[in-house]
Parts: sequence; structure tokens; C-alpha cells
Amino acid sequence: MTDGGFPTVRLRRLRQHPGVRRLVTETRLDPSNFILPLFVRPGRQVRREISAMPGNDQLSPDLLAREVEQAAALGLGGVILFGIPAAKDGQGSDALSESGIVAEALRAARPAAGDMPLLTDLCCCEYTDHGHCGPLAERRGRADVDNDATLALLGRQAVVHARCGADVIAPSGMMDGMVGAIRTALDAAGFEQVPILSYAAKYASAFYGPFREAAESAPQSGDRRGYQMDPAAAAEQALREVELDLAEGADMIMVKPALAYLDVIRLVRDRFPGVPIAAYNVSGEFSMVKAAAQRGWLDEQAVALELLTAIRRAGAGMVLTYWAKEAAQWLS
Ligand code: PBG
Repeated sequence: MTDGGFPTVRLRRLRQHPGVRRLVTETRLDPSNFILPLFVRPGRQVRREISAMPGNDQLSPDLLAREVEQAAALGLGGVILFGIPAAKDGQGSDALSESGIVAEALRAARPAAGDMPLLTDLCCCEYTDHGHCGPLAERRGRADVDNDATLALLGRQAVVHARCGADVIAPSGMMDGMVGAIRTALDAAGFEQVPILSYAAKYASAFYGPFREAAESAPQSGDRRGYQMDPAAAAEQALREVELDLAEGADMIMVKPALAYLDVIRLVRDRFPGVPIAAYNVSGEFSMVKAAAQRGWLDEQAVALELLTAIRRAGAGMVLTYWAKEAAQWLS
């Protein structure tokens, strides 16, 4: 490229004609890029609004099936299921049972999904009474998630999900060794073809606030900084997380949240160009735009599409987003 400089070079030339602007567009949004998070709770005909996330509700399995059908009709890339069990305990037993809420949700959603994949979030925090991502153990005077005890539970949970029809298992607990443990458990149960999308680089973020209302999974004490990544740590730590997860058998990886971590998405993309990357446009990122739009301070559609474009431009092929359905409609 030779730049003699202005006036020979005029970058505005490519911006004059809308068709030429289209020609030089590289980042395109398509409904198939989007994965819609859905929250399922027990019951029939139950729809409970999530106040901080307008347009998103907790649904019972029957209504979930209808939502899944709509998602498939809109051409979404997939949906990811989060369960809110009837009862919680120290181990998160509901998640280990084929009569648990996610198992039930999968059976209801399966026929509605057609060939749209059903993903499941795999973690203990929605199922434990203390709200942490695994059973707690006392260590040097501090309650801490017991990493290795959690691995066994995650393996069992993964097999339940696979048996009940999950197409992709997405572990989100940030336990060391979780991908390897899940891969081993799935393979031993005959599910060697079920892929793992690992939440590989997941930060301890305040942007999860509204989600914890949605999934009823706020830690009852303490926080998740003992297992989720520190936003202020070297960005390259994310590369170590991704590298280890790939070595343990992850098929796809996720960076989460998306917007405050676009640099991390780009780093991962450059370093692992052949690995499918998802980014989670998390609850707080959604809610803050919704709130501003409700006050008339922002144009929601324009802002949301700009943000989704930025996430894709940073290098994510897949975007988990609460805008998935609306964005699909805006794009059509
Ligand atoms: C569970 C989990 C969380 C989110 C996805 N899976 C919450 C957390 O780690 O506290 C957050 C999603 C969002 O904020 O939209 N481990």
C-alpha cells in the first residue's frame, strides 16, 4: 500500500456511495451468529419476568418449548439453557438427576428445536444453596470451592445433559481441569461426539448482576474471585486458560463478558485462529442499554447492533446475547 497522502488519498471516497460502503463491509451480522440464553424453572404455564432484563423471562418447560420454536424459526444459531431448580442443596443435586430441571427442559425443548442446537450451561451455582460454583470446603479459615470435588459433579451433570439431548455442553464454572473431567465423563458414557464449549476466559465481573436475579444464583456470601479471572490480571492469562482448555479437549471457547474484554477476544483470535470463539454479551451489558433506551437516552436498536458488530469484529464468531431474537428481527 502506497500512501502519497492527501489530496491523492481520500479515505472518504469509499464512504460516499452506500453500495460501495456495502462492498467494503467485512463484519456482517446474521441471526445464525446469535445464541439466546433461556432460563427455565419448574411448573406449567409459568412466565416470570426478570425485572432487570426487560423482554427476558423465566419460563416453565412447556413455555420454554414455544420460545425455542420461535428461536429456531428466526434462524438463531442456538439457545443456551440455564436451570432454576425447585430445591437447592450443598452439592447442587438437582443438576445430577434426570428428573432435574435442565433434564426436563431438554426433553421439552428437543422436539421444538428442529436442527437448531441446544446448548446447556453447566455449572453448580444455580443448584447449590450457597450459590457458589461447586461444593465448599474450609481451607485455612476460608470457605472455598473445592475444585477437585466439583470436577466429579460436573462430569455427572454433563452426562445427564447429553442423555437428555444437549447438543453442546458449555461449562462455566472456571474450575481447573473441568474440561478434561467433562470430556472423560462424556466419552466414558458414549458421548464422544458431544462437543464442549468452554467458558475458558471468564472474568469476575460486576456485569453479571442482572443474571444473578435471572438465574437466582447470587453467592450467599463472598464472591467468585477465587475462581473467576481478575479483570486487572495480564490479558495473556486468558491465553493460558484457552490453551489448557484446548489441551483438555475443548472444541470451542468463550470469552466473557464481551464488551469490556474485546481486547481479550482479539488476543485469543490472533493466537488461536482455527478455534471457534464465542463471546458472552452478558446481562449487565444488555440491561444498561435497555435502561438508557427506556429513558430515551439511547437508540436501542442502533446501539445493540453496533455492539454486536464490535464483538464480531473483535473476533468472535458466536455471540451469546439477550438481544438474539430482537436482533434477528431487526436484521430481517
Ligand atoms: C454461571 C454463569 C453466570 C453467567 C453465566 N453463567 C454467572 C456468574 O458467573 O456469576 C453470567 C451471564 C450473564 O451475566 O448474562 N456460572
